[in-house]
Amino acid sequence: MFERLEMAPPDPILGLTDAFKKDPRADKINLGVGVFKDAQDRTPVLECVKKAEERLLKQESSKSYLPITGAPEYGAQVRAMVFGADHEIVKSKRGATAHTPGGTGALRVAGDFIKRMLNGNTIWVSNPTWENHKGVFSAAGLEIKTYPYYDAENKCLDFDGMMKALSTVPEGDAVLLHACCHNPSGMDPDLTQWAAIAQCVRERKALPVIDFAYQGFGDGLEEDAAGLRLFCAPGCELIVCSSFSKNFGLYNERCGAITLVGADAESTDKAFSQLKLCIRQNYSNPPSHGGAIITAILSDPELRALWEKELKAMRDRINGMRHLFVNTLKDKGVARDFSFITRQKGMFSFSGLTKEQVAALRDTYGIYAVASGRINVAGMTENNMDRLCTAIAAILRT
Ligand code: LMR
Repeated sequence: MFERLEMAPPDPILGLTDAFKKDPRADKINLGVGVFKDAQDRTPVLECVKKAEERLLKQESSKSYLPITGAPEYGAQVRAMVFGADHEIVKSKRGATAHTPGGTGALRVAGDFIKRMLNGNTIWVSNPTWENHKGVFSAAGLEIKTYPYYDAENKCLDFDGMMKALSTVPEGDAVLLHACCHNPSGMDPDLTQWAAIAQCVRERKALPVIDFAYQGFGDGLEEDAAGLRLFCAPGCELIVCSSFSKNFGLYNERCGAITLVGADAESTDKAFSQLKLCIRQNYSNPPSHGGAIITAILSDPELRALWEKELKAMRDRINGMRHLFVNTLKDKGVARDFSFITRQKGMFSFSGLTKEQVAALRDTYGIYAVASGRINVAGMTENNMDRLCTAIAAILRT
């Protein structure tokens, strides 16, 4: 049976890492997958994580299963981080959280829940969006529609186009929004725009599904949640899919969370019991280690302070790379204005490079970026910047 199958295309993002690893060139640069690099080109384990792991190693007494939705303490920490510890959603108990294997796991559980339990048919995603969103939601059986998001010519948010499309969304459809650090464009709405988006989605009686993969990578933990919190009016319903791969550097521990917010505690309880079925029939219950690390860090003032310091250092470093990249391109004689890159947030930037230019960068210089022109700014370092900008300048000249 298997021999009838064709070879599937490589994943547009993770496939690049495979190709990068096989590339024998010593000076190759990977700006494909969204992984943070420090000045020494390493993706280090955070110090707060190491310290939490030392404690866990001493304290852990069993490897028995976690509940289907993970440890309740983890869920409580996630809700406090997403909404704020004193938020009405937290206090009224109308938010419920399940620990999922990564943010992708959360998105897939959300897709299954919408399709199977809410009988939803359609989810609206931004154009462009993370390459895997369409795959995850169509695997759950949802139809994907898009709303305009990025104005590639003017390198800004296409807010009017977005609002026009959102104001046609039928009642009951789901609308996916990126809470901050939009992947791939790096372009986020401002708070006035967020307020208008939230109001529009509410008026359309659509279900907001908020992908929150970069909390703390934009402007700060609280600042990055500000847009999302505008959706949190009394009686609102929403789903938040969090990822802690980036902000805790826990990529391979697969730590994420799905938080359901219902109109009141009773309807949340019922909905959450249905969500549990989606999880049980998928991966049964989550892996423990990463969630335990996060709970240990967030519940200990000393570890938490260390984490916030390390998170800020990552954020500052990425912003520093954005400026260095724009200035180095200028020094290399590139006439095109790349200053928009300093206005984008988070790890990614839509560079404006074409598919052909991206291919030439890879073939001629061993520099890997996503075919859409998305580059991972967090993969730039002081050491690779000169070579990177020399290559881009040469590509742009031809
Ligand atoms: C990315 O967009 O590069 C990351 O979110 C990693 C992934 O799974 O694609």
